[in-house]
Amino acid sequence: MTDSFYSRSIFPALAHLDPETAHHMTLDSLALAQSNPAGRAILRAIAGAVPSLPVQVGSLRFPNPIGLAAGFDKDARAIPGLALLGFGHIEVGTLTPAPQAGNPRPRIFRLREDRALINRMGFPNEGVASAAHRLRLLISTERNFVLGVSLGKQKDTPLAGAARDFISVMQAVYPFADYLAVNISSPNTPGLRELQGQRFVSQLLVTLINRGKEIAAESEMRPRPIWVKIAPDLSLSELDIILEALSAAGGDGMIVANTTTSRDGLASPAAGEAGGLSGPPLRKRVTELIAHVYHQTSGTLPIIGVGGISSAADVQETLAAGASVVQLYTSMVYAGPGLPGRILRDLAGLQT
Ligand code: FNR
Repeated sequence: MTDSFYSRSIFPALAHLDPETAHHMTLDSLALAQSNPAGRAILRAIAGAVPSLPVQVGSLRFPNPIGLAAGFDKDARAIPGLALLGFGHIEVGTLTPAPQAGNPRPRIFRLREDRALINRMGFPNEGVASAAHRLRLLISTERNFVLGVSLGKQKDTPLAGAARDFISVMQAVYPFADYLAVNISSPNTPGLRELQGQRFVSQLLVTLINRGKEIAAESEMRPRPIWVKIAPDLSLSELDIILEALSAAGGDGMIVANTTTSRDGLASPAAGEAGGLSGPPLRKRVTELIAHVYHQTSGTLPIIGVGGISSAADVQETLAAGASVVQLYTSMVYAGPGLPGRILRDLAGLQT
């Protein structure tokens, strides 16, 4: 599917719908398409040629540097379909131990003039058990993508009990995930971001990383890398505290970054909505933070770069700042499902 066909025909139709309804229709379509040969052929046609651009990050071999960011497929319903679109890795979740409804709707807003979104979802999800059931069915199939699972805490769990929630999600998905992402940076779960601060972060990371090692040893599995996802609103000294804690605990990498609470330089009427802002307005800050992490760790800590990436040039800039691979979400809403294939061909220097 060409960018202009999507932008001229499909996006305007979807834009008549509430963004969350449009999102559920997209996920339903992917889930249907992935379930039968004709549907899978359509997804392959939308993706076009997907060049192989492998990247080794620690123990993980990514078939290409472009991944789908957390929050798009919260309940792990459309993984094979998303992989057929060309994504080299897919991060599902954020999952919580029990099902939860999230905030009242509407809770996703399009900022069309800025090609951005604001969301205040608040981790609506079916709970880890149903996602784990779907992931269990996937591991028996051969797959050419890396699967990450984003771990969250229940809205009502006090911060002092957060580790128990993260561990309970981690235990349920451990055998099925290639890596685990610790989400302490969503702005939509009250208090969650405090877990990034000095008071909690060291103890939390030590507890999770040690428990991960124990689970691996108990079940004779290789340890799954544990990555921490941070907010773009941290100061550099706050970021350094997390870097120190991560290094002391033996964490494997950092995902930079989640949505922002900043509203600088926006043109859209919906800019005043509460929640986390995603898309191009994030790019500059995210690139600075990646460069800082790379510098502070002398390039030894793997980084996933995410925030406002919509082109091969954005990918190259993010990798040049120090990321090993990247993720996107918002740009696919505006540019359509052919985007990952197109960016990959551009990266490979092929004709699109
Ligand atoms: C998100 N994001 C997100 N991140 C996360 O770690 N867990 C989550 O559940 C969600 N949920 C979510 C919902 C919606 C509607 C959006 C738009 C985003 C954040 C996402 O993974 C990513 O970090 C940011 O959106 C920045 O990337 P883009 O969208 O600018 O490419």
